[in-house]
Amino acid sequence: MLLEPMFPPQEFCRQLGLRPGQRVLDVGCGSGGSAFFMSRLYGVHVHGVDISSNMIDLAVQRQTHLRRAQRKRLQFEMRDILDADYGDCSFDVIYSRNSVLHITNKEELFAKLYRWLKPSGTLFVTDYCLGPAPTSRPFADYMAKSSMSLVTVRDYGRVVTRAGFSLIARDLGNEFDRIQQNELDAFIPTQEAFAQEYSQEEFEGMVTVATNKLTWIRTRQLTWASFVGRKL
Ligand SMILES: C[S@@+](CC[C@H](N)C(=O)[O-])C[C@H]1O[C@@H](n2cnc3c(N)ncnc32)[C@H](O)[C@@H]1O
Repeated sequence: MLLEPMFPPQEFCRQLGLRPGQRVLDVGCGSGGSAFFMSRLYGVHVHGVDISSNMIDLAVQRQTHLRRAQRKRLQFEMRDILDADYGDCSFDVIYSRNSVLHITNKEELFAKLYRWLKPSGTLFVTDYCLGPAPTSRPFADYMAKSSMSLVTVRDYGRVVTRAGFSLIARDLGNEFDRIQQNELDAFIPTQEAFAQEYSQEEFEGMVTVATNKLTWIRTRQLTWASFVGRKL
């Protein structure tokens, strides 16, 4: 996963106006990077949910090394978000980074997120989206292989709005290009060490995926977007 963009949470969290004691839901939290960051820096309680047991195990392992006060503000749950039910108006902020792309039934998901958010609460999502150009066969094959269910920024925005949120959507395609290129540039010099720890074949496979992604971004087949919603 070295080539997955890091998309550091700092920049995004600044926009959220997080306050100590607030409750945040992190949908598709992975190994908990954003959850640890938010709970440490802003004193919020974060409930991270992820369908992958490996990711949740990693998050829980990391959690054991924290000081008690921060540890108590974090909770990790292994579950398909579509099977979860947290009750109406449970969270001040619902946050999700590059995870909804794996969920086909986005209508059902955003209807649930709307219910779980408190009135005046904030939804913050970043995600991969289809760009305006037609999808090539290799890109379609990659999406199918990676269980990605992508829609355009416009269609994504429609789903979120239909769930009831007021919404600001931003296409971050240029940012995506820059981050992916930086990640690839940083990865190439690790070839020898990487090939020793894993294999040369894996190294080449990862470089191919990253190079293809850049091609799809530059030919406007693939983009990245942020969606900031409010429950009025
Ligand atoms: C690309 S990773 C992003 C992880 C994390 N948000 C980050 O930014 O590092 C996508 C995550 O979504 C999780 N995921 C996919 N489908 C899910 C579902 N239906 N319910 C919960 N998590 C899901 C995956 O297991 C994976 O950890």
